[in-house]
Amino acid sequence: MVKVLVCVAWPYSNSAIHLGHVAGSLLPPDVFSKYHRLKGNEPLMVGGSDQHGTPVTVKAEKEGLTPEQLADKYHYIIKKAIEDLDIEYSLYTKTHNPNHIEVTQDFFLTLLDKGYLYKKSTLQYYCPQCAKFLPDRYVEGKCPDCGNEKARGDQCEKCGKAFEPGELKEARCIHCTVAPELRETEHFFLKLSAFQDRLLDWVKDKDYWKPSVQLFTRNWLEAGLEDRPITRDMNWGVPVPLEGWDNKVIYVWFDAVIGYLAASKEWSKLIGQPDAWKAWWQDPSVKGYYFLGKDNIPFHTIIWPSMLMGYGGLNLPYDVPANEFLTFKGDKLSKSRGVSIDIPTMVQKFQVDAIRYYLAANMPENKDADFSWEDFETKVNNELVATLGNFYHRVLSFTYKHFGEVPEFKGTEAERDEIMGVIARTRDEVDAYLDKCEFKRALKAVMDLAQFGNRYFDSVGPWALIKKDRERCGTVLNLNLQLVKALAVLSYPFLPRSAQGAWNLLGYGGKLVEAGWGGVSSVLPEHQKLKEPVPLFSKIMVEKEESSPFKGFGALNLKVGEVVDVQDHPNADSLLLLQVDIGKKIQIVAGLKKYYPGDALRGKKVVVVSNLKPAKLRGYESQGMLLAADADEMVQVLSPPAGSLPGDAVSSGMTQGDKPLEYKDFQKLTIRIAGVMGKDRVNVGREVRCAVPEGTGAKKIAVFLPAPESDEALALFTDKGAVTVDEGVPDGATVR
Ligand code: MF3
Ligand code: ZN
Repeated sequence: MVKVLVCVAWPYSNSAIHLGHVAGSLLPPDVFSKYHRLKGNEPLMVGGSDQHGTPVTVKAEKEGLTPEQLADKYHYIIKKAIEDLDIEYSLYTKTHNPNHIEVTQDFFLTLLDKGYLYKKSTLQYYCPQCAKFLPDRYVEGKCPDCGNEKARGDQCEKCGKAFEPGELKEARCIHCTVAPELRETEHFFLKLSAFQDRLLDWVKDKDYWKPSVQLFTRNWLEAGLEDRPITRDMNWGVPVPLEGWDNKVIYVWFDAVIGYLAASKEWSKLIGQPDAWKAWWQDPSVKGYYFLGKDNIPFHTIIWPSMLMGYGGLNLPYDVPANEFLTFKGDKLSKSRGVSIDIPTMVQKFQVDAIRYYLAANMPENKDADFSWEDFETKVNNELVATLGNFYHRVLSFTYKHFGEVPEFKGTEAERDEIMGVIARTRDEVDAYLDKCEFKRALKAVMDLAQFGNRYFDSVGPWALIKKDRERCGTVLNLNLQLVKALAVLSYPFLPRSAQGAWNLLGYGGKLVEAGWGGVSSVLPEHQKLKEPVPLFSKIMVEKEESSPFKGFGALNLKVGEVVDVQDHPNADSLLLLQVDIGKKIQIVAGLKKYYPGDALRGKKVVVVSNLKPAKLRGYESQGMLLAADADEMVQVLSPPAGSLPGDAVSSGMTQGDKPLEYKDFQKLTIRIAGVMGKDRVNVGREVRCAVPEGTGAKKIAVFLPAPESDEALALFTDKGAVTVDEGVPDGATVR
């Protein structure tokens, strides 16, 4: 039996996974493993939650949890979502577990022993205000390469560039926005430079890698490899297994990639054969496949291979079929909060196979792919339901009704060979594509066979034949059932539930996967009793955004502003004249003097309606409006979440207005202060449904209500979290 190692990139357990993770790195290895199981091979599919590092600690601070609590909370959320999508790992584990820590420390010590790690004093960001080192995500700034304003200390998510401390422009501490200084600190470095030649040699025959993966890797290698620090000044992570390194831990990326090996070992212990992993890692004929998103490429084609070479005796990756990103209206999916593409909502609303179908058919295999509800609805209804679902159903229900069993085949062998030939050709195609991890093409070939089936069914016209020649009708139905059977097996890696469903309707009792790949073309036993058919798929209806009750809010354009100057209005006692930076400088006349006398607003971050039609107020132009909560005598301006910058978009998940807005139209919109009750409930004087932005820990947030009495609200947020007010502001207070 052929063994295959299937490694799946570890999602950070600092938030729930979204469809982007599924299409990019989780579904492909599942399809691949299911295919190998069908073929009677032995895939070992491992991965888990990436629980260490600043991705987790930063988020834990926001949610008011310990890193461990936060990492476990999301681990279970992610694990559940994975199971709900029928994604089957051999083991889905997590990095904060004793086995992982032990394997990582062993790896570290072995590399140290072999001279591939060394200590060096180095400069790291340090925040004088917060009095601590700022590893990785604790620093943000401008990417010197692509200009992205939100690049992190270690890497720019937009262009993939990795940084040394000091390279980032306009660096700032994410807590206090103070510019960090560089301070000396000692760290362990991985001697990447020592592997340059061996890596060049190793990638030589990797011409079967995706072009994008080859290119990315070559560019890195050509730029020359630099040694990298693999420890950090923080307490959450795998402890450095040496005396005197108490406040430092191993860098999250170093421990995460070791996870593949650790999880394999953990799986072996769990099945009671502690040495079982060796068959997948030490036998050079076993191929290892690593499934991930493009931002993870260098860690899997350069760093992990170097670590493995240094450690010795373990297989290097065979293929790294990295995917591009699934986007939502061109933005990274992770940003589209407020739109229910979270997995629990999706699996509640739609069949799992419909979701899997769409994500496989729209997989970002060679370029970014965009998720849209229209496209989801179209592909599911017009392809999955109308082609595959329709073929299954018409064949199974017609045959069941007139025969109740697999009818006898009384045709010529040539006739049977023709259909079996089409099946065999499709099987070979799907085989070849899946073997090369070309998922979209494989799925297309399956769907083409379903299309062929529909045409064949139409051409033989069983509904007419049954009246004229029952025996002949039985013969053509027999061949149609043969196609149903082939489709069930071939579609199984992508659509496991409907495939199993069709298998059972054909009268088989057991598990399709056990029948295996041979089931594609083995002859269906005549007289096998069919089960009473039920449709395996149903059409879906997606609520369109245009019909959203929140439509009116799409006219608003909200931005984070910073008040840079405050003057009294020369002609009015109650008015202030503000200069506000919203990415550009604007003037705002605001009736807030009574509540914010003197200079109180100066330097404050505020939320600005940036597309109000300019108006003159007592002789001075006002080019926008500050949003403030108003509860009788208490008025308070809304605060964007900490870390927001002037010009940042304040969103509700809806598109932002781009046309000038009349004040009277603004007045028609209902914005309220809401007390947070749970992750999807808030109080606006009564309880209403509202997805609360994750991880802000805010008690009072601002929400849109379609109408004063509606029972559903949308929270306002920036990419840093929710827009808030102090706890003293009563629930239901009006925002104006
Ligand atoms: N947690 C990382 C991410 O989400 C992926 C880690 S993959 C592994 O980008 F290689 F480290 F395991
Ligand atoms: Zn700071």
